[in-house]
Amino acid sequence: MADNPTKGLADVVAASTALSDIDGKAGRLFYRGYDIHDLAGRTSFEETAHLLQHGTLPTRQQLADYGAELVRGRTLGALVEANIAEIAEKQAPMEALRSLVSLAGAEDADKDSNESDANCRKAARLTAQQPILVARYHAARRGVTVREPDPSLSIAANYLMQITGRVPEQREVDIFDECLVLHADHTMNASTFAARVCAATLSDMHSAIVAAIGTLKGPLHGGANEQVMRTLESIPSGGVAQAVRQKLADGEKIMGFGHRVYKTEDPRATHLRKMSQELAEASGDATYYRMSKEMEEVVFAEKGLYPNVDFYAATVYHYLDIPTDLFTPVFSISRMSGWTAHVIEQHADNRLIRPDSEYIGERDQKWTPIDER
Ligand code: ACO
Repeated sequence: MADNPTKGLADVVAASTALSDIDGKAGRLFYRGYDIHDLAGRTSFEETAHLLQHGTLPTRQQLADYGAELVRGRTLGALVEANIAEIAEKQAPMEALRSLVSLAGAEDADKDSNESDANCRKAARLTAQQPILVARYHAARRGVTVREPDPSLSIAANYLMQITGRVPEQREVDIFDECLVLHADHTMNASTFAARVCAATLSDMHSAIVAAIGTLKGPLHGGANEQVMRTLESIPSGGVAQAVRQKLADGEKIMGFGHRVYKTEDPRATHLRKMSQELAEASGDATYYRMSKEMEEVVFAEKGLYPNVDFYAATVYHYLDIPTDLFTPVFSISRMSGWTAHVIEQHADNRLIRPDSEYIGERDQKWTPIDER
């Protein structure tokens, strides 16, 4: 039987959104009509989250108010506090985030409301808590105490400080902040779709975010950034071309390449490549950047595929001293702003999401009693 042309819902319009838009042929991405190239490096992650969740780039006063709400929202509840150490012992980072967000939902003050105001408050709290949860998880599994977040610092600065245990340089903060902006939203990607499907049953925001985190975890989606780094680490620095060709000959996918929507360079990769190069040169050991460049050339020559957002994000995070198994959680810190905005949008104009399926099984089967089967 011929493959269903819409298998994997390719090219199916599953929702209407005013949040983001992609031109896959031209390689362009927009958040609420703003070109990502205009936002990246000029707009902070907090401004971007406000844009997505509240609809506008904030004024200075709105940003101050939203920033204060994020600082208040960082506080973790008693249930999360009581369980974080055991979860850190037993679960991998993305599993732990899924569990911890679920626990946070149980004690959220607005847990029983899907009204827009309540959803906006939950969106701010989820956005504020996500980096803290990752930092607290990372500290708990190492048996150390994490540095308290500084209320005067941005999400990017606090996260780098909490994860690395050192005060980051301003350029590192700026680069990481830009990474968060680049990952904030991306139309009907798999995790956002999962969140919207859940929200469309009129389930609550935390349930939708748990679905999204579980979906982002997979290596065909957000989990790819970690796999990119593992691939680079597993290849001898002089053997990139050979290793890539061997993987392709073995029918393996090269992580960090290809995209359902982009038929040209992913505009986020353009920024991430530059950041990776800058950090590599500053580190004094550009081996992984050079290997990445070579891998990009070989994959393009062999398969005509371009790097996606996850490819150069891997080396950027590596040079920022973020542990490899925390790369996908970084994605979730950023994408929380988009997921929550999509839940707000879904609840504001809801209809149950319930696609059809094509039946390919047996028909007209004759039922037989159990002892005769
Ligand atoms: N390496 C090798 N071949 C690839 C790759 C890759 N990374 N990506 C696609 N292809 C090939 C497939 O093998 C397939 O070839 P075929 O037609 O000869 O069978 C063809 O290109 C189409 O690939 P599909 O997997 O059907 O494309 P789809 O649109 O379903 O998948 C996806 C897109 C999942 C991103 C895919 O390119 C992939 O698996 N990439 C690697 C994982 C990855 O980097 N994921 C992150 C994506 S970005 C994000 O989620 C943030």
